[in-house]
Amino acid sequence: MIDQTLLPDRQRLIAIETVEAMVDAIERLAIRGAPAIGVAGAYGLCLAMRGTHTVEEARSAFQAALPRLRNVRPTAVNLQRMVERMAKMEASAELADSDCRTLREKLLAQAMSIEEEDRHLCQGIGIAGADLIADGATVLTHCNAGRLATAGSGTALAIMYEAWRQGRRFKVIADETRPLLQGARLTAWELEKAGIPVTVICDNAAGHLFAKGMIDLVITGADRVASNGDAANKIGTYTVACLARAHEVPFYIASPSTTFDFDIACGDEIPIEERAEGEVWGGAAESRPAAGIAYRNPAFDVTPAELIAGWVTEAGILQPPFEKIRS
Ligand code: MRU
Repeated sequence: MIDQTLLPDRQRLIAIETVEAMVDAIERLAIRGAPAIGVAGAYGLCLAMRGTHTVEEARSAFQAALPRLRNVRPTAVNLQRMVERMAKMEASAELADSDCRTLREKLLAQAMSIEEEDRHLCQGIGIAGADLIADGATVLTHCNAGRLATAGSGTALAIMYEAWRQGRRFKVIADETRPLLQGARLTAWELEKAGIPVTVICDNAAGHLFAKGMIDLVITGADRVASNGDAANKIGTYTVACLARAHEVPFYIASPSTTFDFDIACGDEIPIEERAEGEVWGGAAESRPAAGIAYRNPAFDVTPAELIAGWVTEAGILQPPFEKIRS
């Protein structure tokens, strides 16, 4: 897969051949975005069984890899969910008496269907949300919720790709998305490749643009949506949602049903990943500020449901309690 840490300067493909390599790739954001890490987790479990010759060996390698992959990143529910879907299949009655080869083949088929399903979900989100973007509009997005973050066309960006395909012409403002610049490096790269006009701003310039009436609509992705609609997404999203409310600009979340967590009531229950402090001060040893200074690097925040105008899913633009996608 493409190593997203090197974009946009270098488009380098990396081969992931072991569970540890997959864990490392997810941890350092070589692959990132909620749906994409769900798919990666499923394939990681297939890699765990590579080179095994007996069914006992395969099952034990699979079980050892499960917690490693499930827990690499805590906020996006897709990772846990897809790893658990694989675990359910491994433990299913259908595979109870299978030999090593059948077990591995069936689980690989399951990972491939998770990937294929994600492609369809993205397409559905694009179609459901395309009418939100009017001709001539300016749409702000935060982080990267595009092709790089999913197996398909994205979530927030799927809506933009579909609206563009339908002939609407609009502009996108991409927040740079400190500290790792997913907006400046990834969203801008993706949109530019698609021929959609994109302007990158510093995160702290957003308020000024809202105040000048330069933003008509906000669409972001999500890493986990709670039963009441509270949505975790990349740090800074909550700030954007507050600005949107203050300036009466509609703020939408775009995410597939696989990102909704109906086991939790509200956003307070969403675990927020804290990442290394080096990401805040830049990580280069020579630029490290004096000892004694404390840093915090929460990677996500939660936007309360009352700031969200609608949740664009493959089943349409929904409102809590999301009956259409609760199963
Ligand atoms: O830390 P990241 O880059 O994995 O964070 C990703 C996001 O916050 C995305 O907006 C989210 O996963 C939605 S992706 C369709």
